[in-house]
Amino acid sequence: MGKPILDVCDLSVSRSGKIIIKDVCLTINEGEFVAIVGPNGSGKSTFLLAILGLLKPRTGTIEIYGHPPMSRKLHRKIGWVSQAASYLPKDVKLTVRELVRLGTLHRGNMFDWAWLDTGREEKVTQAIRMAGLEALQNTPVARLSGGQRQRAVIARALATESDFILLDEPLVGIDRDSRNALLKLLDRLCHEQGKTILMVSHDFTAMFQSAHRIVFLEETIRFDGPTETFPNLDELADLRGIENVHREHMEDFVWE
Ligand SMILES: Nc1ncnc2c1ncn2[C@@H]1O[C@H](COP(=O)(O)OP(=O)(O)O)[C@@H](O)[C@H]1O
Ligand SMILES: [Mg+2]
Repeated sequence: MGKPILDVCDLSVSRSGKIIIKDVCLTINEGEFVAIVGPNGSGKSTFLLAILGLLKPRTGTIEIYGHPPMSRKLHRKIGWVSQAASYLPKDVKLTVRELVRLGTLHRGNMFDWAWLDTGREEKVTQAIRMAGLEALQNTPVARLSGGQRQRAVIARALATESDFILLDEPLVGIDRDSRNALLKLLDRLCHEQGKTILMVSHDFTAMFQSAHRIVFLEETIRFDGPTETFPNLDELADLRGIENVHREHMEDFVWE
């Protein structure tokens, strides 16, 4: 097992005075591919926003590479693919290559013309290749399909060379082929590049296909273990505190 990348302890987060997640403890080690699943509104995005430091914990602690969220020490260590990635504004005139190149731009080199140097261009080329977008690199982002756009945003995260990649619902609005390509890409990033991936999705089937470990979050963590040990529906109802005497109680288990 690699070293811990994320260490969350007794975390509670409230929004507008209401507790959304509570008593969350989670450690993720280097090279892991972890999926957080749960129904709509169960607090998955809230959890990611807290990890990113955009929501303050009510109680508990979060450490990433041993530092609190937003620490300067984490600069360029975290790649973030937001839920809105596939909805990039249509009027953006950027090509795929330009979008990915933005990932290499940071405070240290923003005003330095050398940021277009060959080393950086190589990183851009490599990120585009990993995301399978070579043929589309000069295409305006606005002309891509949802799945291609999602992969372009992932390529941008790869170009930052961050080792810890967080994704929020990356599969929403993309077709089945793109979905499979994306999951394969994420799996390769873990195995071949030693990246650590934390992905949030309500698409349980897709997570089951790809992630190595599943965390079921619904206000708190109700299951955390290797994908193949994920509980069946009845066991899950127990974990969720749903009395499973009537089948209709399971209706809200259908996650689209
Ligand atoms: N800004 C906010 N203020 C208050 N409640 C919010 C806010 N944003 C989300 N929530 C509530 O927090 C809960 C969890 O939301 P979210 O983390 O987005 O869930 P998920 O990503 O699992 O679908 C939902 O009940 C939602 O209504
Ligand atoms: Mg969400």
